[in-house]
Amino acid sequence: MQAFVYESGRLFAEGVAVEDLARRYGTPLYVYSRNHLRERYRAIVSAMAEMKPLVCYSVKANSNAAVIKTLVDEGSGFDIVSGGELFRALRAGADANKIVYAGVGKTRDEIEYALRERIGFFTVESESEAARISECARHLGIPGRIAFRVNPDVDPQTHKYISTGKKENKFGLDLERVVKAYEMAAALPGLEIAGLHLHIGSQILSADPFGQALRKIKEMCLALKAKYPTFRTIDIGGGLGIDYKADQQALDPAVYAAAVMPLLRELDLKVVMEPGRSIVGNAGILVCRVQVVKASHFKTFIVVDAGMNDLIRPSLYQAHHEIKAVTETSKTVMGDLVGPICESGDFLAQDRELPDVKEGDLMAAFSAGAYGFAMSSNYNSRPRAAEVMVDGNDAYLIRRRETWEDIVRGESIP
Ligand SMILES: Cc1ncc(COP(=O)(O)O)c(C=O)c1O
Repeated sequence: MQAFVYESGRLFAEGVAVEDLARRYGTPLYVYSRNHLRERYRAIVSAMAEMKPLVCYSVKANSNAAVIKTLVDEGSGFDIVSGGELFRALRAGADANKIVYAGVGKTRDEIEYALRERIGFFTVESESEAARISECARHLGIPGRIAFRVNPDVDPQTHKYISTGKKENKFGLDLERVVKAYEMAAALPGLEIAGLHLHIGSQILSADPFGQALRKIKEMCLALKAKYPTFRTIDIGGGLGIDYKADQQALDPAVYAAAVMPLLRELDLKVVMEPGRSIVGNAGILVCRVQVVKASHFKTFIVVDAGMNDLIRPSLYQAHHEIKAVTETSKTVMGDLVGPICESGDFLAQDRELPDVKEGDLMAAFSAGAYGFAMSSNYNSRPRAAEVMVDGNDAYLIRRRETWEDIVRGESIP
C-alpha cells in the first residue's frame, strides 16, 4: 500500500489529511502509517514463509513504543544494540526470548541486564566480547547463548557509512578467525554456541550481495553445525533497501528470498532476520512548515522549521528524500530546502527542483520513517519533534513534542 497519497491535491496519511495533523499537533511532525508497517512486516514473513523465519525488527531504525508494539502484535522479535533498546522493547511488550542483541561494544551492565531478562542470544563481534559474556554468565549463573557475527568481506554497494560487511569495517570477525573463535568460546564456561550471524550493511538494493555472503560462509557454517550440537541458528541480518526516489526500485522481499532461500535450504538451520528500514522507512514522513523563502540571483532557499537535528540523513549520508508540498503545487523552483540550524550542512534537499511554496505552507520529506526520529537530537537546543501514528481514519499522538524544560532536564549548575 501507498501510505501517503494525494486526494484532490491534498496529502493524506491513510485516511487522515496531513494538514489537519499539522494543525492539531504542530510542526515539525513525524507521521507514521500503522498499516504500512504491518504490511511490510507481513511481506517479509510471507516471502520467506518456507523458512518460518523469526523476523526480529531492528529497533534502531525507529524505536518508538507504538512502532514496537505494532510489531509485537504481529508476532515480531527484535534486534537490539544497547541496554536502552532492550528496555524499550521489553517495555513495549516484546518477548525476551525473541530478542537478539548486536553491537561491537556491549558493556558488562548491558550484558548482565540482557542475561537476566533471558534474551534469545547475543550476536558477538569479538573474542573478548565472548569472554566478557562468559564472565557475566558465570557470575549470574545464567547461560549466555551466542552467535559470532562474521564479516564475509562482500561489497553491499551502499553508502560507505552503512556498509558493515567489508573487511575494513569494524563489525564482526574476519572469515579466517571465525573457526578459532568458536573453539575458544566453546571452551569457556557459561556459554552456549547458538549459531552464526551476518549483517552486511543497510539500504542494499540488489539481492546479489546477500547470496554472495551466504555462499562465502556456507561450508564453514555446515562444519560448525556438525561440530556443535547447539549450533542451530543462522541470523542473516537486515539491510533490504527501499525506494527513496521515484525512479528507484526497492529490493522486493520475494527477490531477496529467491537469492537466499536455496542456500538456507542447504544449511537447514533456524532462520533469524533483522530488517529495519524495509519495514518502517516508507511508513513515515516528516512534515514541516515553511518559515522563509529567500531567493537570491544564485538560488532559492526554502527555510523550514525542520533541520538536520530532526532528520540528519541528508547531511550525514547525502541521502535523498523526496520533498513534496502538503497541498500540491504544479509550479516548481530550483533550490535548497534548509533548516534553521547554524550549519551549512543543515539541509533536507540540495540543488533540487522543489515545489514552489510560500511562507506558511506545509511540506513533507518522504521515506523518513527509518533512521529519522531515531537519529534526531537537540542540537541548537531544539526540542525534538512530535510523532503521530495514523491507523485508518484515526490518529494517535505517540510522542509529544519536547519542551525547553525537557531539553535542560538532568542538567545542574555546580
Ligand atoms: C546488526 C544489524 N542488524 C540489522 C540492522 C538493520 O538494518 P536495515 O535497517 O538496513 O534493515 C542493522 C542496521 O544497522 C544492524 O546493524
